[in-house]
Amino acid sequence: MRRAAEVLARHVALVGFMGAGKSTLGAELARRIGRPFRDIDREVELALNTSIASFFAAEGEQAFRAREAARTISALRDDTPGVLALGGGVITQEPVRAALRERALTILLEVDPATAWSRVEGSERPLAQERAAFVALYDQRAPLYRQVADAVARDVDDAVLAAAMVSVERGALGRLGELVPGDGPVALVSDPHVAGIHGMDAQLALGARLSETHELPPGEEAKTLAAVDRLWQELRLDRHGTITALGGGCTTDAAGFAAAAYLRGVDWVPVPTSLVAQVDAAIGGKTAVDLPQGKNLVGAFHWPVRTVVDPGLLETLPEAQRREGMAEVVKTGLLAREPLWDLPDDELLRRCAAFKAAVCLRDPLDRGERAILNLGHTFAHALEAGARYAGVTHGQAVALGLLAALRLSGADTAPVEDILRPTPVRVDRELAWQAMQRDKKTVGDELRLVLLGDDGPRWDVAVPAAEVRGELDRLIAG
Ligand SMILES: NC(=O)c1ccc[n+]([C@@H]2O[C@H](COP(=O)([O-])OP(=O)(O)OC[C@H]3O[C@@H](n4cnc5c(N)ncnc54)[C@H](O)[C@@H]3O)[C@@H](O)[C@H]2O)c1
Ligand SMILES: [Zn+2]
Repeated sequence: MRRAAEVLARHVALVGFMGAGKSTLGAELARRIGRPFRDIDREVELALNTSIASFFAAEGEQAFRAREAARTISALRDDTPGVLALGGGVITQEPVRAALRERALTILLEVDPATAWSRVEGSERPLAQERAAFVALYDQRAPLYRQVADAVARDVDDAVLAAAMVSVERGALGRLGELVPGDGPVALVSDPHVAGIHGMDAQLALGARLSETHELPPGEEAKTLAAVDRLWQELRLDRHGTITALGGGCTTDAAGFAAAAYLRGVDWVPVPTSLVAQVDAAIGGKTAVDLPQGKNLVGAFHWPVRTVVDPGLLETLPEAQRREGMAEVVKTGLLAREPLWDLPDDELLRRCAAFKAAVCLRDPLDRGERAILNLGHTFAHALEAGARYAGVTHGQAVALGLLAALRLSGADTAPVEDILRPTPVRVDRELAWQAMQRDKKTVGDELRLVLLGDDGPRWDVAVPAAEVRGELDRLIAG
């Protein structure tokens, strides 16, 4: 069983055939998720003090495998979780497979035999000297890779998602029974509206693992201590059970918080159904409920044992809710410096989820650079406060906030204007400005904001109050 904390404490081990590109992708993955990288294959080779080919000739493959296994297992025993690129054949050894099961999240980097051959052909690798033998070995190993892998990746975004235990896959809801890790009982928690549309499919997919079903109130009502208290009292799960949350960000935030504290923490699996939840709320392990004093004031960091993103679920999402999500998609694209908003749904979700997952893996407890995810949000929260939390949606407010952030960054505002088409809103100017100054980022007569620089997003950038006020005023009508 993958307990929540274990997802972050495990090594990420890349396995795959010779020529799959494990070293290159491993180094990039390590950079993306902020972990040290070790190329174990290369380390083994250097430690031989001779080429693999001459070692094979002198001592035989057995002796090489013994050294390779010892090095791999010792790297896996290291307590600092890293990204490890393993040798192609090392998984043929059971002690290595056992260490992987215990210490790592194992990702298979897929490659077809022709591509692999073209990359290693002509090298000195002893097992890549003759094409027919190479392909035969490929066929022989393929099932073994599948057996050890927790996930399969084609590129670095896939690998980031796998490292965060996020599955983005059309039809995933139908495989929920397999995707919820372990084999213990599952409590399904959903919002009544979503339960009416997708609840039956989720129940069928969970099959015999489904032990109980619960509903939270719709919308922000779910994110109250009263609603979570009711859920806690209804739950019958023991410590080995998993809470699965089916719904938008309100459902996943509340059910995730319920899971974080119930029996001092049980595993949970969000199945986000809104665009906001698929690209944002259900990724990164933040859970919370609201207090009368403000939103998200009581919560916990509780990383899901898996997040199941099924793009097909968006087909029933109302257009207005889709627009809410597009504001976060545009935010993500601006941070990633790629027009992710132009991609077709499946790819848009995969890329946006991977971007957020990587930032959260680098800063799981929100102590530093995770702050970049607040791009446009200081303005947005001020506008929402200025509207007394009625009449302006979060998505509208974020669209306007992004506009202000881009203007202050001296960046092109076209993506926001073309995709989100924000128009100034009628809110109380003074109330909005007060909210903006109350924000914890205020220092003296400067405000600390997230802005976009030439080489990417920067957080805690000091901006003179007068300039910020000027931009806030431009977002307000009348
Ligand atoms: N934890 C985080 O990191 C994080 C990040 C961003 C937002 N959030 C939170 O997320 C919440 C907003 O999430 P939301 O916008 O998803 O709100 P929501 O959960 O209220 O869902 C929006 C509406 O869409 C409906 N809906 C959802 N999926 C549907 C589907 N597939 N088909 C038809 N209808 C569907 C819901 O019933 C609801 O009426 C806020 O409370 C916010 O604070 C959390
Ligand atoms: Zn937001």
